[in-house]
Amino acid sequence: MKFVLSTIAGVESIAKKEIEKQWWKIEEVIDRLVTFSGKKELIANVNYWSRVGNKLYLLMWEADNITDFDALFDLVKWINWKQIFKKDFPIYVKSSSIRSELFSARTIQSIWKKAIVKSLVGERWIVNEDENLQKAEILILIIDNKARILLNTSGNALHMRWYRTQAWDAPIKESLAAALVLLSNWRFKENFYDPFCGSWTIPIEALMIAKNIAPWLKRAFAFEKLWLLDWETSENLRALARKKTFDWDYTIMGSDIDPEMVELAKENAGRAWLAWEINFERKDFKEYLDKELYWTLVSNPPYWERLKEEDLKWMYNNIDKLFRLNPELKGWIISSFMEFDWLIKKDTYKKRKLYNWGEKCYFWRRK
Ligand SMILES: C[S@@+](CC[C@H](N)C(=O)[O-])C[C@H]1O[C@@H](n2cnc3c(N)ncnc32)[C@H](O)[C@@H]1O
Repeated sequence: MKFVLSTIAGVESIAKKEIEKQWWKIEEVIDRLVTFSGKKELIANVNYWSRVGNKLYLLMWEADNITDFDALFDLVKWINWKQIFKKDFPIYVKSSSIRSELFSARTIQSIWKKAIVKSLVGERWIVNEDENLQKAEILILIIDNKARILLNTSGNALHMRWYRTQAWDAPIKESLAAALVLLSNWRFKENFYDPFCGSWTIPIEALMIAKNIAPWLKRAFAFEKLWLLDWETSENLRALARKKTFDWDYTIMGSDIDPEMVELAKENAGRAWLAWEINFERKDFKEYLDKELYWTLVSNPPYWERLKEEDLKWMYNNIDKLFRLNPELKGWIISSFMEFDWLIKKDTYKKRKLYNWGEKCYFWRRK
């Protein structure tokens, strides 16, 4: 079987490592997509374990040089849809086209409908365009004239973790928070700080990584409803994943100036059953300036929404100062405040481009 895991831009290499950890062969890594092949058990394992993935798709068919609608029609028609949809499941189709001759989403979708109705003719299948209905989601993706027909095995996107039912003030995407912790090379037995922790996304993801908690054991997936894997196998793999948790003491510290955030953060961590394992304080960032800090800091400081330009400059100057005062501190911050580059000595930082909810950011690392 062939699979495609979609990701946010910039974290494809981490998604690749996640899949290699499951001992499967990567076929291709392109912008926001990792293609790999393996046994059907991967459907459960990648959905349970992927921290940075967005959706896991089954690759149903692919072909190069799809430059006219007849070729697309044939491609869709020849898939054995009856074998895939064992139940009379409503089907929903999305399409996306990048740098290709076929680009009209509307026409691609109408071609698809004609082709599938033709192959399922006489059956009780429903092609339904209501996004809120439970349904099988097909994605027709055309990139550089190569068409891929993909079946979503995840259902809702994997970045929407169960513990975060509410957040305010620019929460970071959960899958991005996990990617930052992985990129920081934090050694789990060393102190970890997030001095702008908001709803606690980064500390919670850090603790789940350190404890090897699979992020996705407590939710339903599309693959279960579509019977892509039998119930016993998926439950056995779920039970196996639960047993892989390590129990160790970690020093993870989160703080934020906003008292409402403190309450919200505690609720989130409580839902993740991790509340008592993270040291959390209400604290102004500047209180760190007269403390000695060691090991790893990963944080997402405020940017444009709430602060005035001079306050932002003050804040980011002090972030740089904190790193200068603490040479033992490995420091990473993610921000879309591009002016940070003007405030620092550039050769003391490295940066990596990432996207948070589609907005361009940099992840600056003090060298
Ligand atoms: C971009 S948000 C962080 C969001 C967080 N990563 C999350 O996922 O919820 C920035 C946070 O910095 C906090 N903040 C602003 N000024 C601060 C200061 N001087 N000291 C500490 N925290 C501050 C805000 O309350 C806000 O929660």
